Amino acid sequence: MAEQPLSNRATMPKAYNPVLERRTVENANRNLLKYLKPGLSVLDMGCGSGAITRSIAEKTGPTGRVLGIDPSETLIAQARQNVGDLPGITFEQGDVYTFETTERFDLVTCARTLQWLAQPETALANMQRLVKPGGHLAILDYNHEKILWEPAPPASMQTFYNAFLQWRQDAGFDNAIADHLSGLMHQLGFSDVRIEPRFELSKRSDTDFAQTSRLWSEVAELRGPQLVQAGYITEDQRLEAIADYDNWIATVGESMTVYLLAVEGQQL
Ligand SMILES: C[S@@+](CC[C@H](N)C(=O)[O-])C[C@H]1O[C@@H](n2cnc3c(N)ncnc32)[C@H](O)[C@@H]1O
Repeated sequence: MAEQPLSNRATMPKAYNPVLERRTVENANRNLLKYLKPGLSVLDMGCGSGAITRSIAEKTGPTGRVLGIDPSETLIAQARQNVGDLPGITFEQGDVYTFETTERFDLVTCARTLQWLAQPETALANMQRLVKPGGHLAILDYNHEKILWEPAPPASMQTFYNAFLQWRQDAGFDNAIADHLSGLMHQLGFSDVRIEPRFELSKRSDTDFAQTSRLWSEVAELRGPQLVQAGYITEDQRLEAIADYDNWIATVGESMTVYLLAVEGQQL
């Protein structure tokens, strides 16, 4: 089967995504805590199934206004279903490049999404329009080239990981976006641009090490089939990477450090 356009590599697979659903502001977007207070208006761009967005709305309360947007119809349907009767929050299908509204927000947040965009500067410029004067833009994103495992993961997982980065790069996605954000935000004229390291460290002594370090088996399970279809790895290599990496977690794996930065600026 022919592969879809390269920009479709950003499309989330339809399968239930446990990685997205276990996130909250506290465990996955802590950089936002300093802003969140009752009554704040927040736009969450690339909200996925809305787990972090719900957590934001719990803090902005019934007098706040929280809008989550994502291009995936499936994820927006899940987000609407999962939100229950939490007040002050809505979800809309929308794209960060083109999303339009007359509303302006105290805080625009975009977590782990620019890594999937071939024109992050265009996306940031559109986000900037949606921030109120004096409001903030808060981006959280990866440098996938700087992940650290202790000890090194099995060769089969390294092969999968390198193929994943190549597959992303070939679609125009910036594997090192975290380290390019402050430059982009300065160019756009944000003031007071700040960088906060938000590395995610999982250690064997953590009770949830098996779950958090399994991130890459989950990527191989969810995204891996797209790499197989595009010819970057074989199905056997994908399955071997999952099995070997799960064994690494169960036996010798000590730690994994995912490199994430929060980069934030204020709109003049
Ligand atoms: C890794 S998920 C991050 C979800 C959530 N922000 C989080 O941190 O858990 C990336 C999200 O970006 C969305 N996405 C991809 N392309 C996008 C675009 N052009 N505009 C907005 N969101 C996009 C995907 O649908 C997916 O939900």
